[in-house]
Amino acid sequence: MAILVTGGTGFIGSHTVVELVKDGRDVVILDNLSNSKICVLDRIKTITGKSVKFYKADLLNEDEIEKVFSENDIDSVIHFAGLKAVGESVEKPMLYYHNNLTGTLNLCKVMASHGCKRIVFSSSATVYGKPKSVPIKEDFPLSTTNPYGETKLMIERILKDITVSDPEWSVSILRYFNPIGAHESGLIGEDPKGIPNNLLPYVARVAFGKYDHVNVFGNDYNTHDGTGVRDYIHVVDLANAHLKALDRAAKVTGIEYYNIGTGIGYSVLDIIHAYEKAVGHEIKYVIGPRRAGDIDECYADPTRAYEILGWKAQYGIEKMCADSANWQMKNPEGYGE
Ligand code: NAD
Ligand code: UFG
Repeated sequence: MAILVTGGTGFIGSHTVVELVKDGRDVVILDNLSNSKICVLDRIKTITGKSVKFYKADLLNEDEIEKVFSENDIDSVIHFAGLKAVGESVEKPMLYYHNNLTGTLNLCKVMASHGCKRIVFSSSATVYGKPKSVPIKEDFPLSTTNPYGETKLMIERILKDITVSDPEWSVSILRYFNPIGAHESGLIGEDPKGIPNNLLPYVARVAFGKYDHVNVFGNDYNTHDGTGVRDYIHVVDLANAHLKALDRAAKVTGIEYYNIGTGIGYSVLDIIHAYEKAVGHEIKYVIGPRRAGDIDECYADPTRAYEILGWKAQYGIEKMCADSANWQMKNPEGYGE
């Protein structure tokens, strides 16, 4: 019995594949390589000592998914594949709705036809919109502010309806907070195309001289130092949450929702200072205007994941910054061409 990992050569997918293989599980990766590089497979092999079966396949092509299922005995799926850039989703909503929704519908259709009814889905804290309070619990009201977030919420609802129509399905919705860091080997990590939108990859590039300074988006938020507060989580901790979710999905049916964060909020300046400690030198920053759509504070109450899945984040901000810095130092051009 194998686990299919869609988007398995991407940032979170690759780290999850490593943890699955280390745990002795049989893994098959499906990815269209639209936002990842084939060399990730070699890196995974170097870390784990094992080759993972890979299909270059697109979730928009049902025949390609069918081939993966007919050639492998897949009993569960971890579904990472999707487009994830908030700004791009505002510019290209049709691309995002088509890729993320149609891709998921095609996947679920093929899964059902092969009697595979177990799925762990990558959702996001973005489904909480602008939360009324923090920490955020899973039963908080849901809303979104951009097409990317809308696709996450719509997929959550689609999966819910599937469990209603067929009670044999087991769906685990993991709502990630802000994944950062990298595998401690420095062999796999986050490799954003072009200028990074997210804070950590940007800070990493400033720290290693690619850019002059970090632009801090606003210091007039209602937070301890005025800069935006988020719940940063080490990508390896996040990866391990998927193993726990799979084990749970093997035992129960229906749909369950889990916040995957540390429960601790750090501001932009906290992160810059933690990174300075990791690299041993100052990181320049300039306070600028707010970024449209950003919220003051967003951090999880991860109690449910602990109580039901037995999962808890192990790594603190020092390790997250140290592993990010190690990856950046060893791979200044990411995975390269
Ligand atoms: P990523 O872009 O590194 O990985 C996604 C992978 O999916 C890529 O390798 C890409 O090539 C593949 N893919 C995209 N569309 C596909 C398709 N139609 N068919 C086959 N493969 C396809 O992103 P990530 O950071 O690893 O995120 C993984 C998942 O987690 C995504 O669904 C994302 O929305 C979600 N998520 C990410 C974050 C974050 O901050 N990184 C936060 C919350 C949720
Ligand atoms: N920030 C800066 N400068 C930068 C980049 C970011 O000051 O160059 C600030 C932002 O204003 C925010 C914080 O750093 O306060 C974190 O910003 P990110 O862009 O790293 O992360 P977000 O919380 O805005 O968004 C992330 C993902 C989204 C996801 C959301 C909720 O990028 O896809 O978390 O899970 F929807």
